[in-house]
This record gives sequence, structure tokens and C-alpha cells, in this order.
Amino acid sequence: MRSFTLAVLAAAAGAFASSSFEIPAGVPRSLSDFRAKHPYTPPSHGGGPKRKEFTIRASRSDTDDVADEFLRGLKRANKGGTLLLPKGQTFVIGKPLDLTFLDNVHVKLDGEIKFTNNTPYWQKHAFRHPFQNSIMFWKWGGKKVKIYGNGVLNGNGQRWWNEFAGLEILDPDNEYLRPILFYAENATGLDIEGIHLKDSPCWTTFFVTSKDITLKDVACTAESNNVTSLPKNTDFFDSLNVERVTVERAWVNIGDDCFSPKSNATDLYVNTMYCNGTHGQSMGSIGQYAGEKSFIRNVHIENMWMLNGQHSARLKSWAGPNVGYGFIDNVTFKNFWNANNEYAAFLDSCYFNVSFFCLLHACMHYCNAICKVPKCYITETDYWTNNKQINATTCAAYPSQVNITNVLFQNFTGSTSGKYGRAVARLTCSPNAICENIQFKDFNVTSPCGGPPVIICDGIKGGIGTPCVNSTSPEATAALKAKCTAPMATLPTPTPW
Ligand SMILES: *[C@@H]1O[C@H](CO)[C@@H](O)[C@H](O)[C@H]1NC(C)=O
Ligand SMILES: *[C@@H]1O[C@H](CO)[C@@H](O)[C@H](O)[C@H]1NC(C)=O
Ligand SMILES: *[C@@H]1O[C@H](CO)[C@@H](O)[C@H](O)[C@H]1NC(C)=O
Ligand SMILES: *[C@@H]1O[C@H](CO)[C@@H](O)[C@H](O)[C@H]1NC(C)=O
Ligand SMILES: *[C@@H]1O[C@H](CO)[C@@H](O)[C@H](O)[C@H]1NC(C)=O
Ligand SMILES: *[C@@H]1O[C@H](CO)[C@@H](O)[C@H](O)[C@H]1NC(C)=O
Ligand SMILES: *[C@@H]1O[C@H](CO)[C@@H](O)[C@H](O)[C@H]1NC(C)=O
Ligand SMILES: *[C@@H]1O[C@H](CO)[C@@H](O)[C@H](O)[C@H]1NC(C)=O
Ligand SMILES: *[C@@H]1O[C@H](CO)[C@@H](O)[C@H](O)[C@H]1NC(C)=O
Ligand SMILES: *[C@@H]1O[C@H](CO)[C@@H](O)[C@H](O)[C@H]1NC(C)=O
Ligand SMILES: *[C@@H]1O[C@H](CO)[C@@H](O)[C@H](O)[C@H]1NC(C)=O
Repeated sequence: MRSFTLAVLAAAAGAFASSSFEIPAGVPRSLSDFRAKHPYTPPSHGGGPKRKEFTIRASRSDTDDVADEFLRGLKRANKGGTLLLPKGQTFVIGKPLDLTFLDNVHVKLDGEIKFTNNTPYWQKHAFRHPFQNSIMFWKWGGKKVKIYGNGVLNGNGQRWWNEFAGLEILDPDNEYLRPILFYAENATGLDIEGIHLKDSPCWTTFFVTSKDITLKDVACTAESNNVTSLPKNTDFFDSLNVERVTVERAWVNIGDDCFSPKSNATDLYVNTMYCNGTHGQSMGSIGQYAGEKSFIRNVHIENMWMLNGQHSARLKSWAGPNVGYGFIDNVTFKNFWNANNEYAAFLDSCYFNVSFFCLLHACMHYCNAICKVPKCYITETDYWTNNKQINATTCAAYPSQVNITNVLFQNFTGSTSGKYGRAVARLTCSPNAICENIQFKDFNVTSPCGGPPVIICDGIKGGIGTPCVNSTSPEATAALKAKCTAPMATLPTPTPW
């Protein structure tokens, strides 16, 4: 009853194939469905004994900056209290806040915290982090910090997206930086529960050198009202140097990585997420910076609903002339349901700095068609969507030094978008690197092209427990050639819930 049918269109040939698949009953179709299925009731006193409560004045308008009041409120509530931000009130933040002094503090957010959209001001004054040239509205840190409630943390991203339109974050010449909505460093014991992380200008969260982080029952959306300026790089979760992270029950509708730890992550547990329009549950990329070691280990991700995205489960590490080294070890991706994603499983240890590659090497024959002359710069999106993956010969010249071991893809169902024809998963291990004990179990993803789905493997040691062909084999070539597309897994109106 609570399901609907997606028609499948064979676009390239202009033919109309009739095939269909169903979004299983009980899977939420919207944020309100998600809230109905996974209701969140803030625990009284944050779940512990009664705490002293503090309030601050609310903003009277969109420009009435209460940053100073917010800071004072947190200082008063620090060491055992709770700052209350009640429903119906908005708290506008118009200057950067250093909140790294926190110690046993709660914020009960039932109203809305909203950042001003004075883009030149923030670009000048925001905090900075060297990783991918990040800037941040504020820094959270300390110990035993809990932010919970039914409220909204609003990045007010529209103006940022409008002004960023046409630019690329990985373009080394890009100077238009956009702030991260929630950033924490040196935090131990950070719980975020219930709230809606909304319209971040850039990454939604970034956790650095922190441990015991929990995100539960959160929603994360970035939705533009301007079709020519879509939200970009609004990743739900990014991290560097973290231990013990738990994410449970999250609704994510954004335009980049969904859950994506970067360098140095240990003991991550993720259960029940709905990711629409994302780049997937993405380990890395790691190994980007020359001479630097990085790793990701002991990761368990299960019960994922991945729609309308790029790859569903993926691992990536950099290759190239000046990269780092390290490993990804012991990662389980389990119970992944797919609709209209490009590859359902994807491993690439030939992830290149394309701008470097373009500048230095094959500009003329490799990417002229899509390059922005004279910079010879291709976007990351171009890189993947035009299937300009670095080939084995090129990767061999600049191999990755990141080993990928003990990875399990288990119980994958649903269908891809048909972007890569009948190829539904692709694993590319860099020559020189080790990719070992990569296993597929109960992997049953189909393509809208019909015919047998194909898994492509290059350089994976010892097989994957299911048939897999190399990218130059006739099977892979034929599978990639098949032309078909699935329509967007859109939701019928009214929502059948
Ligand atoms: C939409 O974004 C474009 C930039 O791509 C911008 O020029 C235009 O002003 C925006 N429209 C509105 C209504 O803000
Ligand atoms: C963390 O704390 C250390 C020592 O207190 C400090 O040097 C460092 O700058 C802080 N920030 C990060 C991101 O590590
Ligand atoms: C899912 O994402 C697509 C494209 O990114 C969007 O058009 C659609 O509205 C989203 N669906 C939901 C339920 O948010
Ligand atoms: C990751 O850990 C290694 C040591 O194991 C360290 O050398 C490296 O700097 C760390 N990377 C980051 C981004 O902190
Ligand atoms: C692999 O990771 C899981 C957590 O996802 C952990 O329970 C297990 O002990 C790890 N295995 C090894 C060999 O470290
Ligand atoms: C990669 O694996 C090889 C073979 O086991 C090992 O010699 C090398 O040290 C590993 N590299 C890293 C960065 O762990
Ligand atoms: C496989 O995953 C689906 C959801 O994607 C779930 O409904 C089903 O119970 C799982 N099967 C097993 C055997 O765990
Ligand atoms: C990628 O290569 C370009 C061009 O050489 C360089 O400017 C940029 O710093 C590189 N980016 C990274 C992350 O290495
Ligand atoms: C690999 O790519 C390079 C750069 O585009 C090209 O020159 C070379 O011919 C390709 N090799 C194979 C085997 O396709
Ligand atoms: C794979 O899925 C199809 C339908 O999507 C189902 O008919 C078939 O039994 C499944 N095969 C296995 C081995 O689970
Ligand atoms: C790829 O597979 C084909 C058989 O389909 C085989 O002839 C060829 O040697 C394989 N290439 C590599 C690099 O393993």
C-alpha cells in the first residue's frame, strides 16, 4: 500500500522499456515521514538529573545578532547547566564564536539558531581550517556537550549557493570560501540529538580531533529555491582524527557525501540513514597529502536507504605524484537499498587530483573537450560523470600507497540508475597498493537496462566471493555499453504515507 512504482525509461535509444521497481513499504518518503517513523522526544533534563536552566533573549529580526548573548548564556550554563532556546524563537548569530571551553553543558534547541548571510563579512572573519581550505562560523569543543531538541540549526545557505554558482571547491584558484555549519575540535563526548541541520553553505558538519561523538535522530537538508544555484559540497558528515562515532537514524537530503570520514577514523558505527541525492556513504578520500599517513578502520554501516545519488557505498584514496600513504581496514557495509544511484558499490584507489593531472599531463587529448580553457580544469563531477577515470597505465605511473583490506558489502538490493549500463559495482585498486579480502555477500543489485548485472574489478587480490570481471574484458565492455536510464526516484504527490 505505501509503495509506488517507478517507470523505467530507455532514454538513449528513445525506446520505452517497461520495467519497474518499488520503494518498500515503511520507508519514509519525506522529512515528515521520517519524523513520523522515528519520532524524537527530547528527554527531560537531557536524560539525567535536573540541571540548572538558563535563557537568553531571542532576536527581534533577521539581523538582530545575539552572538554575544549566546556566548554569555553558554558560559553561565557551563559546568552543569542547560541553555534553553525555546520553540518559536530565533537566535541570529552574526559573528564567529569560539566555544571550545565547554565542560558539561547542554543546549536544548527547540527554536532556531540562524546565521546571518552577510557573505563578505563571514569570508573575512570566519575561523579557518587548512583541510581543503575550510572556514567555519564557530568552533565547538570541550567535554560532555549535548545539543538536543526539535529545533533547527540554520546555515541560511541560499545566498552562499547563489554566489558560488559556477565555481568548484576543488579548483585550486577558487577564492569564494563558504562556512561549515557545525564544526567541533578537541571535543570528548559530544551528543547531537533530534535537531534539523538546515541549508549549510558548505559541509554540514566537520569533527576534528574528537572522540565519543553521537548524532541521533537528526535531519539534514540543503534545499535551494534557485534552480541555477544548487547547494554544493553540503556533506552531512566529515571528520579528521576521530574515534568512536555513532550515527543513528538520520534523514539526509543534500548534494554531496552523506557519511564521509576522512583521514584517521577509528570505530565508527552507523545505523539507519536515508540519503537522497548524495555521493554516498564514502570512506575517504584519504591519502591526499604528500608524506602524511592516514587511515580509516573498524567501521560498521548498516540499514541504509540510498536514493538518487552517485555511489551508494564507496571507498576512495588518492593516487598521483605527490600523495600520502596509509590504509582502510575492516569496513562493513550491510543492508543497503538502492534506487537510481550510479554504482551501488565503488572502490577507487586511483582517485586523482584532476587539476594537477590536467595541468601536467594529458590536457590535449584527455580533457580538452570538457576543460575550461585556458586553465585546463575539469570538475570532479565532470571527472566522474564523463567517466574519465584514470586508466590502469596512468595509475601505475603514480600509484596509490593506501592499502584497502577486509571490506564486506553485504545484502545490497535495489537498482542503479543505468548510468554505467549493466555495470552495478566497480572496484579499482591501484597497482602497487594492496586491496585484499574485499567480499560481496548477497549482493543483488540490478540495472534498469535488464540483462545480467555486472561487477567490475581491477587489481583486487583473491576475488570477491562473487563473479567479477576486469574492465577490459568483453563482459565489462558490453555491460558499460548498454544504454538505459532510470527516472529520478521521485515521490508521488500527495505523499503516500
Ligand atoms: C539564482 O542564482 C543565480 C546564480 O546562479 C543568480 O544570478 C540569481 O540572482 C539567483 N536568483 C535569485 C532569485 O536569487
Ligand atoms: C586541540 O588542543 C590542543 C592542545 O590543547 C591544541 O594545541 C590544538 O590547537 C587544539 N585544536 C586541534 C584542532 O587540535
Ligand atoms: C531527492 O533528491 C532529488 C534530487 O536531488 C530531489 O529532486 C527530490 O526532491 C529529493 N526528494 C526528497 C524526498 O527530498
Ligand atoms: C593521522 O595519524 C597519523 C599518525 O598515525 C599522523 O601522522 C597524521 O598526521 C594524522 N593525520 C591527521 C590529518 O591528523
Ligand atoms: C572490525 O570492526 C568491528 C566494528 O565495526 C569490530 O567489532 C571488530 O573488532 C573489528 N575487527 C578487528 C579485527 O579489529
Ligand atoms: C601495504 O601492504 C603491504 C603488504 O602487506 C605492506 O608492506 C605495506 O607496508 C602496507 N602499507 C601501508 C601504508 O600500510
Ligand atoms: C537486507 O536488507 C533489507 C533492507 O535493505 C532488509 O529489509 C532485509 O531484512 C535484509 N536482509 C537480511 C537477511 O538481513
Ligand atoms: C592539485 O593540483 C593543483 C595543480 O597542480 C595544485 O595547485 C593543488 O594544490 C593540488 N591539490 C591538492 C589537494 O593536492
Ligand atoms: C591511458 O590514459 C592515457 C592518458 O589519457 C592515454 O595516453 C593512454 O593511451 C591510456 N592507456 C590505455 C591502455 O588506455
Ligand atoms: C534478487 O532480487 C530479485 C528481485 O529484486 C529476487 O527475485 C531474487 O530472488 C533475488 N536473488 C537473491 C539471490 O536474493
Ligand atoms: C581481463 O580479462 C580478460 C578475459 O576476459 C583477460 O583476457 C585479460 O587478460 C584480463 N586483463 C587483466 C589485466 O587481467
